[in-house]
Amino acid sequence: MKTTESILRKESLSREDLIYILQTQDEDERQLLFARARRVAAKYVGRQVSLRGLIELSNICRKNCYYCGIRSGNNKSGRYLLNTREVLHAAEYAWKKGFGSVVIQSGERSDRTFTSSITELLREIKSLSNHELGITLSCGEQSEDIYREWYEAGAHRYLLRIETSSRSLYGKLHPRDEFHSFDKRVEALRTLQRLGYQTGTGVMIGLPFQHTGHLADDLIFMRDFNIDMVGMGPYIPHADTPLARRCADIPSDEERIDLSLKMIALMRIMMKDINMAASTAMNTLDPAGRIKAIASGANIFMPNITPPAQACNYMLYEGKPIFTDMAEASLAGLEENIAGMGMRVNYHLWGDSKHYHNRIENTKPEQ
Ligand code: 5AD
Ligand code: SF4
Repeated sequence: MKTTESILRKESLSREDLIYILQTQDEDERQLLFARARRVAAKYVGRQVSLRGLIELSNICRKNCYYCGIRSGNNKSGRYLLNTREVLHAAEYAWKKGFGSVVIQSGERSDRTFTSSITELLREIKSLSNHELGITLSCGEQSEDIYREWYEAGAHRYLLRIETSSRSLYGKLHPRDEFHSFDKRVEALRTLQRLGYQTGTGVMIGLPFQHTGHLADDLIFMRDFNIDMVGMGPYIPHADTPLARRCADIPSDEERIDLSLKMIALMRIMMKDINMAASTAMNTLDPAGRIKAIASGANIFMPNITPPAQACNYMLYEGKPIFTDMAEASLAGLEENIAGMGMRVNYHLWGDSKHYHNRIENTKPEQ
């Protein structure tokens, strides 16, 4: 008989194995899965959590994804763009706190004013931190030239979620036009990987029309893509979006959290040395969501350091915590929880993806 225990003894997991584990409701089996993921993380990435100060640069976006609260078609969203001083102030805060890295995330824009302003910000953040801060970008699909320009200006990691690896499901979540092409998204990920970025992707979990088979395929997609970093979390409906009207049949909040934790644990077991984020969306559905994600194999925590006045406008989904993690108390609470799991928080380190370095090492030509 198939059990989580028998499946986890195998060298490599099949699509059916993944579906079995995603569907099991047996508490002992769930705990066995999470314990295994924790052991794999401890062995391959260490008993440690790295920090990224998250700066939500702008909620202006040219895209119109059906699930997202800051889609261009939502005229109820108050738009903002942080100014240079605000971004540099947040970056300096992260550097002084010893976070080691920042993530600059933004709605997608491809006009030269925007792309050049990112290039300039990258240079300034590097220089204000004596080149000590690592920088991850998450600014959507861009041309190869822009990705290269940003890489040369100091970004070394890039997050671009595929959202779902199913072409047909992707088609149901996005307008069918050239702005929202599945093929272009995959191509953009390949370009990032080719240019030398530590490349990250991820999916939303518990979407309308999504089945456990899709989620198993997502895990296989990320493994086959040889991805360095993963950020995934539950789908959370936003009332001012078209997809919210299709949510009658989505799994409950608890089920979406459960599925997300299992996805994280399975991904850790399949891709042992990657970096994996405990996403903010986890916390939206469960106050302990991010800690549970770490207990299921995630190793990256992204305190939100966006100035609070603007952070409340970066509403991808409803109920997103408006607090920012700047508060001392929030970090102290994290430290305590992490220590309680026999782990520690890394300070003053980039916290690079070990998978990236192992991948590069393995593809070097023979001397
Ligand atoms: N629920 C959960 N995640 C969402 N995102 C956008 N809208 C939602 C939502 N309603 C995620 C997408 C995107 C990232 C910036 O936020 O995965 O890539
Ligand atoms: Fe824009 Fe990203 Fe939201 Fe799509 S998910 S509308 S690309 S911010």
